[in-house]
Amino acid sequence: MAAAVERNPETFRVLTGERPTGPLHLGHYFGTVLERVRLQQAGVQTFLVLADYQVITDRDTTANVQDNVYGAVLDYLAAGLDPEQTTIFTHSSIPALNQLLLPFLSLVTEAELHRNPTVKTELAESHRALSGLLLTYPVHQAADILFCKGNLVPVGKDNLPHVEMTRVIARRFNDRYGNVFPEPDALLTSAPELAGVDGRKMSKSYGNAITLAMSEDETAKVVRRARTDQDRRITFDPQTRPGVSALLSTAALCLGAQPEQLAEDIGDAGSGRLKQITTDAINDFLKGHRTRRRELAQDNELARRALVRGNQRANEIAERTLDEVRSAMGTIY
Ligand code: TRP
Repeated sequence: MAAAVERNPETFRVLTGERPTGPLHLGHYFGTVLERVRLQQAGVQTFLVLADYQVITDRDTTANVQDNVYGAVLDYLAAGLDPEQTTIFTHSSIPALNQLLLPFLSLVTEAELHRNPTVKTELAESHRALSGLLLTYPVHQAADILFCKGNLVPVGKDNLPHVEMTRVIARRFNDRYGNVFPEPDALLTSAPELAGVDGRKMSKSYGNAITLAMSEDETAKVVRRARTDQDRRITFDPQTRPGVSALLSTAALCLGAQPEQLAEDIGDAGSGRLKQITTDAINDFLKGHRTRRRELAQDNELARRALVRGNQRANEIAERTLDEVRSAMGTIY
């Protein structure tokens, strides 16, 4: 975490979040969840958006969104996030946040929207026509960040263009109407991106993800199915041996070890042994989390209550900010 955050946690307001497109997996855990817990422990005010409107940028169903939202809240709580300290909210519950989209859209040009490299990649991967929401979601994301005057935004590399666009929008709004918004900084996550068990990007749709909520048997099954190779000697070489190396990286992260060292320890014992070690490492690492999650899930209203509380706080803040925006614009009647 940036040194400035540790020195002056009270000067930061963090806003970050994710699209509830599937259950949270190990990649999320190492990439973002642990960092959010550290931020909370350091005393930084943190807001987490479960960006449900972002789900429909490039797909035409909201079928699993609600389950994914509640599942993510359970994972956050099990990981140690306290809903009284960390405001967890959903896009669609905060009307005033969404209204910020209108003035913000007026501050960017169509050409700027089309230039966003992340939107271009997502469009190509979606294999469908560009929806108006996909084209404009980085502006919506600026509203996520600015409604609470977030000044620090933990993101992965792919979201850096959106933070840059947020800065542009904040600057242009302030220039045009008077000073309302901070220009937020990105905080690039320090965790390495964790590949799925086959070496490709970890994603539920590839079937290569270890989700946090999986049982030990399901975990064993996903690891067993992972494609390795014939060479009995285990070595860490992500270029030529993506499958073997992804298992080594995963096990090493869970064990707090180095993948090269782990490979050497396994030596000639082959991929069967590697898979056993990986399964055990994951299941041991997640044991506490999974137990807590199961206990929390016994109260089937818990996740919803945490969200209602977060949404209430987010609404209060969003309404205040919208009032400021409308008075800066002279449109309060
Ligand atoms: N676009 C982010 C992702 O895909 C999710 C997100 C939505 C977000 N709103 C945000 C991230 C605001 C940071 C700040 O992961």
